[in-house]
Amino acid sequence: MDGVSTEEAEVVLECEDLHRFLGEDENRVHVLDGVSFDLHAGYVYSIMGPSGCGKSTLLYLLGLLDRPDSGAIRLGGQEVSGLDDQQLSVIRNREIGFVFQFHFLLREFTASENVQIPMRRSGVMSRADMQERADHLLELVGLGDKIDRAAHHLSGGEQQRVAIARALANSPRLLLADEPTGNLDTANSERIFDVLQTVARETGLALLIVTHNTQVAYASDFIFTMQDGRMVD
Ligand SMILES: Nc1ncnc2c1ncn2[C@@H]1O[C@H](COP(=O)(O)OP(=O)(O)OP(=O)(O)O)[C@@H](O)[C@H]1O
Ligand SMILES: [Mg+2]
Repeated sequence: MDGVSTEEAEVVLECEDLHRFLGEDENRVHVLDGVSFDLHAGYVYSIMGPSGCGKSTLLYLLGLLDRPDSGAIRLGGQEVSGLDDQQLSVIRNREIGFVFQFHFLLREFTASENVQIPMRRSGVMSRADMQERADHLLELVGLGDKIDRAAHHLSGGEQQRVAIARALANSPRLLLADEPTGNLDTANSERIFDVLQTVARETGLALLIVTHNTQVAYASDFIFTMQDGRMVD
């Protein structure tokens, strides 16, 4: 990690002193206890830490799927706390891509149709443009020959690559991945990571990966270590 300089790169995301409590009354847990960091365009960051330390909770906040109890999140310099749910969902669809451990593809839909879903939601592209972009993204993740195959007729690793292509559909500035290689074998994990890393470098998005895989972490530009809701180092 030494020698990696982000000085010239645009700051995509800043989070500052994030706190999040979950649960009610005596079950109330201080899940995030003051998390701060910046993510720069074109860099790959990983978060490691024991089960239950708050990694997924953090990704939900950064992905604007949940709100912090206190602290600030700025995306491309814009503070998001004052925005309503409708505004957040527009930003989420346009600026942020997600890849989860389980890909949540629509099984009966083809690879291409799955990738087009976020573009349809934005509603700014023609049908032909959406198809063309979906096919391009599927080629990028090495599935150019399977664009018309139904999702449930693809292997686990292939489905995860479709999910990556779908996450890239609207050219996000930030890609969040929560254990994207969690249920895959080593060869597929490496492949998924290579695809994600290449995309980050080529498109200049900031990539944040939660992983238990040390190889994935060591191949990142920066590793954050989390424990009990805090970043430790
Ligand atoms: N709705 C909830 N109510 C109470 N506690 C919750 C709630 N959701 C999550 N938690 C607790 O918050 C803590 C952090 O959960 P989180 O899912 O962020 O962990 P994680 O680091 O992603 O773990 P893993 O590596 O197992 O995925 C855990 O102790 C969890 O039990
Ligand atoms: Mg988790």
